Amino acid sequence: MKISVVGCGYLGAVHAASMAELGHDVVGIDVDRQKIEALSNARTPFYEPGFEELLARSLASGRLRFSSDFSDARGAQVHFLCVGTPQKRGEYAADLRYVEAATESLIDVLGPGELVAGKSTVPVGTAARLAELVAGKVPGALLAWNPEFLREGFAVQDTLHPDRLVYGLAAGPDGDTARALLDEVYATIVERGTPQVVTDYATAEMVKTAANSFLATKISFINAMAELCEATGADVKQLADAIGYDERIGRRFLNAGLGFGGGCLPKDIRAFMARAGELGADQALTFLREVDNINMRRRIRMVELAREVLDGSLLGKRVAVLGAAFKPDSDDIRDSPALNVAQQLQLQGAVVRVTDPAAIENSRREWPHLDYAATPEEAAERADAVLVLTEWKQYRELDPVAFGKVVAQKRVLDGRNALSRTAWTDAGWSYRALGRRAG
Ligand code: UGA
Repeated sequence: MKISVVGCGYLGAVHAASMAELGHDVVGIDVDRQKIEALSNARTPFYEPGFEELLARSLASGRLRFSSDFSDARGAQVHFLCVGTPQKRGEYAADLRYVEAATESLIDVLGPGELVAGKSTVPVGTAARLAELVAGKVPGALLAWNPEFLREGFAVQDTLHPDRLVYGLAAGPDGDTARALLDEVYATIVERGTPQVVTDYATAEMVKTAANSFLATKISFINAMAELCEATGADVKQLADAIGYDERIGRRFLNAGLGFGGGCLPKDIRAFMARAGELGADQALTFLREVDNINMRRRIRMVELAREVLDGSLLGKRVAVLGAAFKPDSDDIRDSPALNVAQQLQLQGAVVRVTDPAAIENSRREWPHLDYAATPEEAAERADAVLVLTEWKQYRELDPVAFGKVVAQKRVLDGRNALSRTAWTDAGWSYRALGRRAG
């Protein structure tokens, strides 16, 4: 099929390359010429395992190209809308300006029978509004909402092997035509028996925000338990293991620590609350405010814990921060809990050195006043405390014996409950973690 993908950020770039991998003829469109230039030359604008290879393969196959000219989207049977929906400045609501601008630009090149398939995370009600706009301007054109559930770090795998396909469709024959087009796009995935949920626009939009809200709630639940564990001397890791054996609960996303960040969970729960307010249903989501509060409190607690470990004062103390990305296997620093803590420590007088295997460049650009080091050893040289704030494999596998030789004081704070407490304490380190007793 001939496909266009509008918006070549995380979601769009991976989607475009994945659609080419599935055998389609794809053009990725973005207004950012630099991004187009990089992608066209097989350079990935972000770090994502497996994406570089996929991009190179798709470009070499001749089935993928990138352009900043919307007219190159002309003639595609399906146009995927993959632009960002960030949080509005100073407000909880989502900023839909990119979705609107992209739809307007698409309308200029759209033909009857062609499908606009929205993948961006949008407030419920957006698809119905856009469908009206599209149909009003291009009679016979169709619109579907097809949310995406990819995780950074697993984006390629999640796009090519999604655990479900969700189609939000118009009622009647237009919906049937849209469904047939999407089934054709995803034929390989559909044939594999991937579960499909075929529904209306509002449900499809809500599936996405509900899923992210649930995940955020699960993380904040275990972090609230961590707060209680800190108050009682209980151990949150063992608690999570024990409740996680109950299949109804499940162990995944019960990792207590610094909490969630990134470009999705924080802004999505806020946009969901804002939208519920507009719909007069804000009471239904007031719990998400608490989810957000619990999450932000973890960052403050981490700074307090560091102060405690550093004998009550951060002033002039050398602190190594291992991890800057909001999660491992990513160079994304949007709302990164690790960088948030690093900055608070620095503002409160600590001498902070941050390291990360992939995100230093992004971090330096965004937060130039922080000090950066290329390796954990360099960051931790003569440190009074080491904070592990993003659980990269490299950090989980550090040898505490060798690492102990570079620091001034063997104090480690495990912000992600990712280290082996016994290995570190056996090597003579004092070990502290959120939600666990001192070791
Ligand atoms: C999230 C969702 O997981 C995806 O399904 C969704 O498609 C995506 O948002 C999106 O809306 O586009 P992502 O932001 O890549 O994906 O990251 P997650 O893996 O969900 O992690 C989010 C944050 O939660 C990270 O900061 C991570 O460190 C933290 N986390 C995760 C915990 O603190 N504890 C856990 O147990 C799990």
